[in-house]
Amino acid sequence: MAFDLIRINDLRNLTNCEIAPHTGLNLIKGENGSGKTSLLEAIYILGRGRSFRDKQISNAVQRGKSSFTVFGKKGSKFNKSAIGVSCSKKGTNLSIDGEKISKLSLLAKETPIHIVTPKSQELIEDGSSVRRRFLDWGVFHVEPLYQQFSFRYQRALSQRNKSLRESWKTANIWNKELHESGSKIQEYREIYFERLKEQLLIQMEMLEVKYDLEVAFYQGWPKEQTIKKMLDDGMAGDKNRKFTRMGPHRADINFKIKSDKFNKWGSRGHLKLVVFALFFAQANVIKSMTNKETILLVDDLTAELDEKNVERVIAHMINQKNQTFFTTTDYRLCIERNVGKMFHVEHGVVS
Ligand SMILES: Nc1ncnc2c1ncn2[C@@H]1O[C@H](COP(=O)(O)OP(=O)(O)OP(=O)(O)O)[C@@H](O)[C@H]1O
Ligand SMILES: [Mg+2]
Repeated sequence: MAFDLIRINDLRNLTNCEIAPHTGLNLIKGENGSGKTSLLEAIYILGRGRSFRDKQISNAVQRGKSSFTVFGKKGSKFNKSAIGVSCSKKGTNLSIDGEKISKLSLLAKETPIHIVTPKSQELIEDGSSVRRRFLDWGVFHVEPLYQQFSFRYQRALSQRNKSLRESWKTANIWNKELHESGSKIQEYREIYFERLKEQLLIQMEMLEVKYDLEVAFYQGWPKEQTIKKMLDDGMAGDKNRKFTRMGPHRADINFKIKSDKFNKWGSRGHLKLVVFALFFAQANVIKSMTNKETILLVDDLTAELDEKNVERVIAHMINQKNQTFFTTTDYRLCIERNVGKMFHVEHGVVS
């Protein structure tokens, strides 16, 4: 479901702002420092209950003010919902349809939101944790039991690592729990990854990224072994290193071209296109498995893309039909009235 109203108060330089976005594209233009990223940050907060810019969400409270609020209304005539987030130094309050909720995961389930920023190439360039988070975010949306098994696995893993650090004698009592919860996590991830990979290749072709890219899932330990056997056999090594060296917590997605890492081959612009393809793929898999629409936020769309690729991405965003908010400082960039709306931001005022 798309937002049809967003109201923001006292978030960074946005003092009092209300917009009625389009269900398709929303192009946000403005000079440096006008408040474009802050607008995306507010929408992201509605979906995730946290900021993508700051670990501390309360840093988004406008200087000199004690709190910020963001309110969003979504849906059609028969299926409406309203989300509210307010935040001060004391804490964050979340509500859905006026009812207070305590868990971020409930908010996240309500509205799948993704953001692509000029930093998003880290999805391919950085260590495995960012790719694991990306994959698991998709699994979380499509598999209702994933969160429960993930919680069990993380708890057992931290207990096992604690035992390995202190007195390794009790470490192996956690192997069974890690095996049970980890096997389920692995099963969900494998099913999800196959769908994601299939979609990724389709999306790359549509965005005309012409690399012979091999995409593979690494489960985090040798394929032929069960988690239990891997943990039992690896006990001596784990004791030596004082942590659990292998398991689903080491899973990864590998991107390769001719057996070499993709980030050695891809140009910055092409990396960005692959990142777009990944986010579009994720949105499509979630849509096909749950019928939920992902809202896409894109900060500084034109950064590192040439004119043709900007046009390609916009045309593709129109095709995708997700509600999308994207920013630029390029005043020449325009979209047709029938596919979306354009907003202008100036000194924190959105018109
Ligand atoms: N907590 C805060 N309180 C008030 N103003 C803030 C706060 N944090 C940041 N700002 C200001 O908000 C303004 C808008 O920042 P924002 O990053 O949204 O701009 P932008 O339009 O995305 O700029 P750019 O094109 O450079 O990315 C900036 O002038 C910034 O200094
Ligand atoms: Mg910005």
